[in-house]
Amino acid sequence: MTSPAGSRHLSRGCCLPDAMATERAGASLGRAVATALDRAMALEGAAGPSAVIGLTGPLGAGKTCFARAFVRAYLGDPGAEVPSPTFTLVQHYEPPAPSGRPPLWHADLYRLGDPDEIHELDLLGAGEAAVVLVEWPDRAGPYWPDDAVEVALAIAADDSRTLTLSAPPAWTALLEALP
Ligand SMILES: Nc1ncnc2c1ncn2[C@@H]1O[C@H](COP(=O)(O)OP(=O)(O)OP(=O)(O)O)[C@@H](O)[C@H]1O
Ligand SMILES: [Mg+2]
Repeated sequence: MTSPAGSRHLSRGCCLPDAMATERAGASLGRAVATALDRAMALEGAAGPSAVIGLTGPLGAGKTCFARAFVRAYLGDPGAEVPSPTFTLVQHYEPPAPSGRPPLWHADLYRLGDPDEIHELDLLGAGEAAVVLVEWPDRAGPYWPDDAVEVALAIAADDSRTLTLSAPPAWTALLEALP
């Protein structure tokens, strides 16, 4: 996302010295979202909240690396096939039935020609609880929600990465999931 996090968002950063650290951060956030949604589903049923998470950062920052580990942790399946959605734009995942967890969409909007094309992807505003993990969320323009979580990855001079997590009030518990 190009816009700075809203004033109600709380932020926290950490250093990711290598790709494994990016994977660990992704897995930790994936587990934290799963835990939060499990609790919400127990209380509110299928009308529970959604988690919309934007992954920002330049080409090659590690967004897909983070997302892959996030998806596997969320599904509870370390061996799950998680292809990059660079060309398909969207990949859909259905957690195993017993978990009762909402479905997950992983999108890469880099190749989206126009923000209006987002409606064809059936991605945001589906109405049901979901986890929506989006690389290049700025491509969604006005359709990107203000209350989304942002995971911003930056490439440091030594090729390590820094991660800044910005969370709206409903998702501040995620800040504790960072190393
Ligand atoms: N913390 C890190 N330190 C060094 N290299 C990393 C780190 N995290 C990920 N990488 C490496 O960065 C490279 C690019 O990762 P990835 O494909 O996930 O980037 P991306 O942000 O999705 O790129 P794109 O914008 O093209 O989709 C991979 O080789 C990955 O191993
Ligand atoms: Mg990518």
